[in-house]
Amino acid sequence: MTDYFSLKNKTTVVTGGMGLIGSAITRSLIECDSRVIVIDVNEQGYEQLPKSLKEKIHFENHDLTDLNSIAKVVEDIWNRYDGIDNWINNAYARTADWGNKLEDVTVESWRENVDVQLNSYCIISNEIAKKMAGNGGGNIVNVSSIQALKAPDFEIYSGTEMTSPAAYTPIKAGVLMYSKYLASYFGHRNVRVNAVCPGGVFNNQPESFLKRYNKKTLLGRMATPEEVARPVVFLLTEASSYITGTALTVDGGWTAI
Ligand SMILES: NC(=O)c1ccc[n+]([C@@H]2O[C@H](COP(=O)([O-])OP(=O)(O)OC[C@H]3O[C@@H](n4cnc5c(N)ncnc54)[C@H](O)[C@@H]3O)[C@@H](O)[C@H]2O)c1
Repeated sequence: MTDYFSLKNKTTVVTGGMGLIGSAITRSLIECDSRVIVIDVNEQGYEQLPKSLKEKIHFENHDLTDLNSIAKVVEDIWNRYDGIDNWINNAYARTADWGNKLEDVTVESWRENVDVQLNSYCIISNEIAKKMAGNGGGNIVNVSSIQALKAPDFEIYSGTEMTSPAAYTPIKAGVLMYSKYLASYFGHRNVRVNAVCPGGVFNNQPESFLKRYNKKTLLGRMATPEEVARPVVFLLTEASSYITGTALTVDGGWTAI
């Protein structure tokens, strides 16, 4: 029987694969039998993984914020692994002052975050899509956010140090719309491009925030990293072969109401 959810004999790259969502994506890819390449700057995190997990991951230490080096990184990885079937843009680079309130965001910080969070996803996608198109096809998933779909509700942050950075909404909306652009540009060459829009993932946030956040979801809670990872991986499998240019919302119903 065909297993439409298997990634056996496929090679998948996940950027930011050592992070909260990225490490769950990495584990899900392994469960689906994909060969897994993680691109991340956190080599120490990789070295500390249990041996049984470490030996299933090909780790590549590259700083994806260096936009001028992206074409070469993609080219080198493509050649080293003899082609790539699937690519997931998930890395979350940000400046040291990320998280400042709108009133304190400098022009430089704004520019830099658009460069490292939006432009990097776009330029990486361009480079890998061109290669996939010349090689019979492939799949790209860009991790966006519900903030691409709805403005933040600042009420949920009150009394905490948390906020939703001003640049995050335009960055994630850009990630989503550029995924659609690329899906349109490369669709007839068998490259599928999709975005996933996760809601908030539980990560020991303050209790007052959790109470307010949970109330706004239909399921009454935040996501686990695995609940975001599995829909991302689904978009790489045969089970999703007719899905392209879509935004898959994974938010426990936050945006439904
Ligand atoms: N956590 C959430 O609640 C949430 C919700 C919606 C969307 N997202 C999105 O999910 C994605 C992953 O978020 P996360 O919460 O897992 O982030 P995270 O900070 O836990 O992990 C990000 C990973 O990216 C890596 N990274 C950082 N800078 C890099 C660089 N210059 N080059 C290569 N790798 C780099 C980090 O080392 C880390 O492993 C992001 O795109 C984020 O916007 C997260």
